[in-house]
Amino acid sequence: MNAYRVLARPVLFSLDPERAHGLTLDILAWASRNRWLREWVSQVASIPRLPVSVFGLDFPNPLGLAAGMDKNGVAAPMWPALGFGFSELGGVTWHGQPGNPRPRLFRIPAEEAIINRMGFNNEGARALSARLADWRARGAWPAHPVGINLGKSKITPLEAAADDYLASFRELWPLADFFVVNVSSPNTPNLRQLQDRRELDQILASLQSANASLASPLGAHPKPVLVKVAPDLSWEALDEVLEVSLARNLAGIVATNTTVTRPGTQDPLIGRIHQETGGLSGRPLHTRSTEVIRHIHRQVGRRLPIIGVGGITTAEEAWEKVTAGASLLQMYSALVFHGPGIVCGIVDELRSRAAGAAWEDVVGSASGRN
Ligand SMILES: Cc1cc2nc3c(=O)[nH]c(=O)nc-3n(C[C@H](O)[C@H](O)[C@H](O)COP(=O)(O)O)c2cc1C
Repeated sequence: MNAYRVLARPVLFSLDPERAHGLTLDILAWASRNRWLREWVSQVASIPRLPVSVFGLDFPNPLGLAAGMDKNGVAAPMWPALGFGFSELGGVTWHGQPGNPRPRLFRIPAEEAIINRMGFNNEGARALSARLADWRARGAWPAHPVGINLGKSKITPLEAAADDYLASFRELWPLADFFVVNVSSPNTPNLRQLQDRRELDQILASLQSANASLASPLGAHPKPVLVKVAPDLSWEALDEVLEVSLARNLAGIVATNTTVTRPGTQDPLIGRIHQETGGLSGRPLHTRSTEVIRHIHRQVGRRLPIIGVGGITTAEEAWEKVTAGASLLQMYSALVFHGPGIVCGIVDELRSRAAGAAWEDVVGSASGRN
């Protein structure tokens, strides 16, 4: 019996999607503060190990929590307990902000998809840094690599974007294991223009220079910085992002964010939800995001490792993304439809499929790159 489907999902799906999300996070935040509970959950989850090393970090397994689920880090200690091999907290912006007016989150159960136009609702970089410092002081720091997803504050004009990202980066640098520069959310006006060569280069140059100067007095390595791309870019535009990323020594690419496209449907009810403005995630995104991963891997191979995200619901889909070129994976929407039990199930099957082969040899093995 799947307890989530039978017990939790009917209750959560009877609520407005954002309330359900808030309730889930409240419960996880409460559990996060109790060490005994965290340990119990992690024992019940019986997390299979599939250790992988990517961009200088060691991951207990390659499946992580995608950005947007825990924007303020309120449940950070619970994500490893639920079986995730890493978590990406945020998107966080320098200025705390309320996001777009509600309703702004829509479920499409028949497609196992979500449309959101949250608009980076978050408490801001300083609040996230204080919360993470508090987890560390309590001895509750997550037992896996923690990434932070950086967005641009809505009030900051596009021309000043680099300084906005930089302020959050500096604030959070001591606390994160890696950073993801989010220039691909469809829900902040014109944000995706920052994927253009000149704008992106300016942002990455300023982050990487701060990265070096923050690391060197400590005798430490700069932190891995990745960029997250939209699934809606043309191959030419994507190749420009890759060129800039290589030139600026990025650690990798997160592919992909949500899409502004919609799948075809004959169902008028689904058609009506498709008309909502925002980014679509979940099952309908899987094929496109996998194509993007394959394209990136063919272009740059191991020079830019990929975190593959978009519509992963089964181990089969996770495996497709790995063999297309993803070294690491993330999920969000499938958690809403299938619950957290899905995490350990997928990791377990990935382990069986890898069957002891070196992970680097599995990554990209069906990408067509020789
Ligand atoms: C409600 C919601 C909020 C999101 N917020 C962010 C965000 O703040 N930053 C980001 O880079 N991606 C964000 N995403 C995108 C996810 O991280 C992920 O890229 C996308 O949902 C595709 O994965 P999935 O199909 O497994 O959900 C959000 C997605 C959803 C559904």
